[in-house]
Amino acid sequence: MALVTTKKMFEMAYKNGYAIGAFNVNNMEITQGIVQAVVEEKAPLILQISRGARSYASMSYLKAIIDVAVAENPEIPICMHLDHGDTFETCKQCVDDGFTSVMIDGSHHSFEDNIKLTKQVVDYAHDHGVVVEAELGQLGGIEEDVVGVDDVMAHLTNPEQAVEFVEKTGVDSLAVAIGTSHGAYKFKTEPKLAFDVVEKIGEKLPGFPLVMHGSSSVLKEFKDLINKYGGAMPDAMGVPEKAISKAAKLGVCKVNIDTDLRMALTAKIRQVFAESPADFDPRKYLGPGREAIDEMVKHKLQVLGCAGKAAECL
Ligand code: G3H
Ligand code: 13P
Ligand code: ZN
Repeated sequence: MALVTTKKMFEMAYKNGYAIGAFNVNNMEITQGIVQAVVEEKAPLILQISRGARSYASMSYLKAIIDVAVAENPEIPICMHLDHGDTFETCKQCVDDGFTSVMIDGSHHSFEDNIKLTKQVVDYAHDHGVVVEAELGQLGGIEEDVVGVDDVMAHLTNPEQAVEFVEKTGVDSLAVAIGTSHGAYKFKTEPKLAFDVVEKIGEKLPGFPLVMHGSSSVLKEFKDLINKYGGAMPDAMGVPEKAISKAAKLGVCKVNIDTDLRMALTAKIRQVFAESPADFDPRKYLGPGREAIDEMVKHKLQVLGCAGKAAECL
């Protein structure tokens, strides 16, 4: 089984009211933890690579790691996706590197320029059998290479524009802004996400797959462990898991999770460092970190509703 696009996954997810987890990978242990979880839960998988991940690990290493995951697990459909591509050139490079899905994030451009850029990527990607995700509206928060807006509720996706955008670009899926932010510092109180935006787009574009970024729940269990062992993470609510399950029923077919992976890994490593200060074998802390990712991802697959759905997405 080779890498797959998201076409069949999204078709089945939309029809059956679940979402596929799109997990960010930066190294071998993170990838192995995620893959172990989807194998155990028999779930379809999107492994996504940011520009930061490409420059940190180098594309050839990440691709080789993912190729092994694909070859060893033919019963699991796996898509390799570029997260937040910023230019046509980056997306073209990823198509040429063997990605089966790319995101072009033109959300900070004007509506017209976003359409133009997205269409250029769609034309090239589709010619090479690769699917494209675009973004309309803007998220909050800051990651290494992705800078968001301060007032997320003022930058929600406009449903009328979404229809025009999809028609003019021919894009395969659309990331919508419904009030979420990237990173670990989202929401001081229980968030009110704009599900009406998702519903309105669903009415206007029935069957069209939507994507939710900034979907980590900033799990308290990991925040507490990080802080117990010397960390300094402020309180944050994250995106409640019940909101993720609800979104999956409304046409959100892809849910992006990075922060929860980072926190699981960091929490475990801090714990091992604190409890076994004499250890200096990386396997003694990266191994438990990988296990923590496996457990966390298994739980997420239940929340997303995609556990047990690998076979129908092949
Ligand atoms: O959306 C951002 C992802 O969490 C990737 O973050 O650019 O720091 O790798 P990164
Ligand atoms: P989180 O920071 O909430 O995990 O979001 C990740 C994301 O949207 C990657 O594109
Ligand atoms: Zn994102």
